Amino acid sequence: MKILYFSGTGNSYYIAKKISDSIEGSKLQDIATLFKEADFHHDVDDELVFVYPVYAFLLPLMVEGFFKHLKIKRGAKVYLVSNCAGKNMPVNSHVKKIIERKKGNVNASYEVQMPSNYIPFGGAEPDSKIKNLFDNADKKIEKIINAIKSNESGHFENGNFFYRLFSKPLWKFFVIGIKTKGGKGFSQNGRCNSCGICQKLCPSNNIELFEGKPIWGDNCEQCMGCLQFCPQEAIELGKSKGKRRYHNPRVKAAELFRNK
Ligand SMILES: Cc1cc2nc3c(=O)[nH]c(=O)nc-3n(C[C@H](O)[C@H](O)[C@H](O)COP(=O)(O)O)c2cc1C
Ligand code: SF4
Ligand code: SF4
Repeated sequence: MKILYFSGTGNSYYIAKKISDSIEGSKLQDIATLFKEADFHHDVDDELVFVYPVYAFLLPLMVEGFFKHLKIKRGAKVYLVSNCAGKNMPVNSHVKKIIERKKGNVNASYEVQMPSNYIPFGGAEPDSKIKNLFDNADKKIEKIINAIKSNESGHFENGNFFYRLFSKPLWKFFVIGIKTKGGKGFSQNGRCNSCGICQKLCPSNNIELFEGKPIWGDNCEQCMGCLQFCPQEAIELGKSKGKRRYHNPRVKAAELFRNK
């Protein structure tokens, strides 16, 4: 079984790793790395699990692109696991349609609620709320693992009907925003100690270090990884100054390194 994930701030990786650690012989793969290497052929695998965060109700742009090019085996058994700060997001219904167009068989889909990483909407939630979210998420992940192990079929967490109606235009609007802004909104506030973490973990390899300090290119996914993982809190975006940072506290930045 292959478990493919995309993760900016560690939440999706946390879920994917837990699933992978519990399923013997499974292989964990990073969608950002596969995308960079144009490795879209997963048509020898009988079973696939996809783990992704929700961006603007649907998918990160890179994950949308990955699914577009993806090749899977006819009849491959697929499980979808989304995670988000809100609830009842329509993304799994969207991905199910893509997989079915490729003649895959979506056995089940799940949504896990995780802490928010989207700093433009506010800083990290209080520690007590984050602890609560993790307690509930851990229980849900355990259920998902048992469901996958027991071959669960026909359980779909496809989101709210109204979100499904409006999600596509909202997502397009959001994606156009990303495309036009690129990485322009980011800046460095002088606290940078040139550790290089932001550059190494960026899923779209959009950061270069110039004289040890980050410079952002035009290919940003808005994953928030650079800003949220920076150990110096040296990266700002819009009104992020003074806002509490969040990355998954159980994931080390190095586990998400993709670039040399
Ligand atoms: C650009 C962006 C857009 C987001 N949009 C949504 C959203 O529409 N609904 C939601 O519930 N959470 C949204 N989130 C929150 C993330 O889905 C959530 O925090 C997720 O667990 C992050 O996973 P990661 O740590 O693997 O990147 C958004 C986050 C980002 C960065
Ligand atoms: S992660 Fe922060 S401290 Fe490290 S290089 Fe990037 S901006 Fe500088
Ligand atoms: S520049 Fe930062 S926010 Fe943009 S994709 Fe890279 S790590 Fe994510």
